[in-house]
This record gives sequence, structure tokens and C-alpha cells, in this order.
Amino acid sequence: MSCNIAIDGPAGAGKSTIAKKVAKELSFIYVDTGAMYRAMAYYLLKNNVNAEDIRELEEKCEGADISICYQDGEQQVFLGEENVTAYLRAEEVGRMASVSSANGKVREKLLSLQRNLAAQHDVVMDGRDIGTTILPNADVKIYLTASADKRAKRRYLELTEKGETCDIEEIRQDIIERDERDMHREVSPLRQAEDAVLVDSSQMNIEEVKDAIVGIYKEKVKH
Ligand code: DC
Repeated sequence: MSCNIAIDGPAGAGKSTIAKKVAKELSFIYVDTGAMYRAMAYYLLKNNVNAEDIRELEEKCEGADISICYQDGEQQVFLGEENVTAYLRAEEVGRMASVSSANGKVREKLLSLQRNLAAQHDVVMDGRDIGTTILPNADVKIYLTASADKRAKRRYLELTEKGETCDIEEIRQDIIERDERDMHREVSPLRQAEDAVLVDSSQMNIEEVKDAIVGIYKEKVKH
């Protein structure tokens, strides 16, 4: 039986950075489910789909052939034969993902991809509904969060380090709007599973958060 660690939480809480480190330390596979929703969003944008038009969205999402594989331990996302991983972090793709991921058909399409990976491998899987919907029996569930101010600051630093010009207040507003959409959508809203451990990273550095989660895993699984 594979061992599964679910990490859910809002945008910018550091889930992917932390999940990658936890996976490396435990020799698990890291599964970034946000990248799957982003690949779907990229596909929809490429096909000029208006996400507000539910019929068009539901019709078109059926055609997205999303798969993932690992190269040097890094998750690669494919749309058909094309590796689209490099395009997925764009703000436009993130915004579209936030809207389209609220749709039940879109979520249904990605559900088995996520569950199959978790059944076949020891995984650290991050997302919004992993502990609540995708892997309700995960061995360890973490709800990782941080204040909106802190998350905006981190995102601002990430972008400016890449040489991009951006406005911190705009980023903060975007984070708040995304939280609102993720937490209040009808299908699989972002929420803390009852049996998830809350980790607030506002006052913690990356190593501290990683160590806390590895500690929770050891406590729960090894004993
Ligand atoms: O974590 P992220 O920013 O890469 O996620 C992109 C979008 O996809 C985000 O708006 C929320 C959505 N998402 C989701 O609804 N469920 C998941 N398991 C992962 C991401």
C-alpha cells in the first residue's frame, strides 16, 4: 500500500515549495495538482474558451488530454504530446485556472489522474481538496496557510527576483479574490479537512515548515 500525504491550502501559502522538500526528504513523489488545473486552463485559453460560458467550458474541457510524468524527479505536465510545464505559471493561466477549476466537469476529469498516482506511489500531493475529496483516507493531512499580506509579499519577491515588474497591492488583491473563489465555490471548495493538521507559515521559514510536516508524518505514520 502506498503512503499518501495531502497538503491543502490557499494560493501562495508555499505548498509547492514545501511539498517538494518533504517529498525529497521522504523519497516520495511530489504531485502538483494545481499544475493539472493550470494545464486545463492553458488548453482552454488556447482554444479561446470563455470560462463564463458553462456549456462551452464543459464541452471543450472533455477534449483536454492531460498527463504527467517525471524527469529528474520533476513533474512534467503534457497536453497531448506537448510538454506545457513551462507555460503554466503565467498570471493569465493562474486566473483562468481559478475560474475553470470551480467547474464540476473540469474537476471530475482530473480526479482519476490524481487518485491513480496516489494509489501507485508514495506521494506528497498538494492542492485545494486533496484531504477532503481526492484522498479522504490520506495517511497525513496538512492544511498549510499564511496571512494574505505575507503571501503577497512572498509572491512579490518571487516575481521581482525573476525581473518582472509588479505591484504588491495588486498581487494582494488578486490573492484575496482567488481565496474567495477557491473557498466559496460549490464544488470541492478549499477548506481544512476535519482530520487535517493546521500549519500557519506566516512566521516560519521554509525549513521550519518542512521540518514541522516531516515531524507530523513521523509521529503519525511511524508510531
Ligand atoms: O495551486 P495553484 O495556484 O497552482 O492552483 C491553480 C488553481 O487551480 C487555483 O486557483 C486553485 C485550483 N486548484 C484546485 O481547485 N484544486 C486543486 N487541487 C489544485 C488547484
